Amino acid sequence: MKLCITGGTGYIGSHFVVSAICANIEVVIIDSLENSSIKVLTAIESVTGVRPIFYQGKVQDRQLMDEVFNTHSFEAVVHFAGYKAVGESTKRPLMYYQNNVGSSAILMDVMRSHGVNKLVFSSSATVYGVPEFIPYTESHRVMPYNVYGHTKAMTETMMQGVCNAHPEWSAIALRYFNPVGAHSCGDLGEDPQGIPNNLMPYITKVAVGELSELGVFGSDYDTVDGTGVRDYIHVMDLAEGHLKALAWLKKNKGFKAVNLGTGNGFSVFQILESFERVNRVEIPFSIKPRRNGDLPAFWADASLAKELFDWDAKLSLDDMVKDAWNWQSRYPKGYRE
Ligand code: WQD
Repeated sequence: MKLCITGGTGYIGSHFVVSAICANIEVVIIDSLENSSIKVLTAIESVTGVRPIFYQGKVQDRQLMDEVFNTHSFEAVVHFAGYKAVGESTKRPLMYYQNNVGSSAILMDVMRSHGVNKLVFSSSATVYGVPEFIPYTESHRVMPYNVYGHTKAMTETMMQGVCNAHPEWSAIALRYFNPVGAHSCGDLGEDPQGIPNNLMPYITKVAVGELSELGVFGSDYDTVDGTGVRDYIHVMDLAEGHLKALAWLKKNKGFKAVNLGTGNGFSVFQILESFERVNRVEIPFSIKPRRNGDLPAFWADASLAKELFDWDAKLSLDDMVKDAWNWQSRYPKGYRE
């Protein structure tokens, strides 16, 4: 099988590429390198022994996409490419709509004109918005409350529309919860540019001494200990979920949206406890005001992924914090070493 992977040098994309190569799948990466480093290719090669075929560019570059699809005969596409900073999306909505939604529309048109009709899309639990009930099932209303979430929901709607118009298509939107951790080899991992928005990379930057302390955004939520609760999932479990989704696409038609989460929620303090205990590193913190837009608590109902493609998360929170630290402690500057 040969796959086209957009955004394949990004955090989640690169971990999926490693899993795909290890499953003897041939991969071709298209990535603009706006938010990732070319050094990821070397890291992938160091883990797998294979340096993936790579094209630098944006999915919106129709000429590039036609050239790639004329050169390679793809069985399917896994679409990771997109901007993902929630706060930035609110300040720069049109940049996000043009990039995230525009690229998805162009990608599906390129696929259609080249006879490629299997698509796995990197979606997000953010599409659900304010919970009507927890855990979120796939039947929960889709009502995103930030532009980033809207771009994911709009792409899912486009996928449904394409599958309705072209019955030979099969497409899955994987709704990620909170991906964290790294491949156990420690040679690839999450490497956000600047000050991390997300909890785990912020913690690892404190642990490695780049940042002085963690700000805990609120400790007065109605949760187990007052801090925010999320469904953290190991990035390698997430990668495996994509392989299972691809197998489902081979045997089924139509569109599905599927949660990829563990089904468990952990609070910020529980993440800190695990990180400090497992890695024997102290993480100084102070309580800060709640962050605008944060929800108190949510986690996944992961039963549909189990039912459809016999997938469930295998790795524990301790695995997540161990692997996150292994990467950061080996590469304190990430790919900028
Ligand atoms: C987790 C918890 C914070 C940082 C976001 C996006 C979502 C997805 C994953 C792309 C919350 C708390 C965080 C910090 C803290 N991204 N926190 N101090 O907000 O659940 O989801 O990333 O798909 O779309 O919305 O993840 O890691 O930012 O926050 O206390 O410095 O950690 O309040 O409770 P979030 P997060």
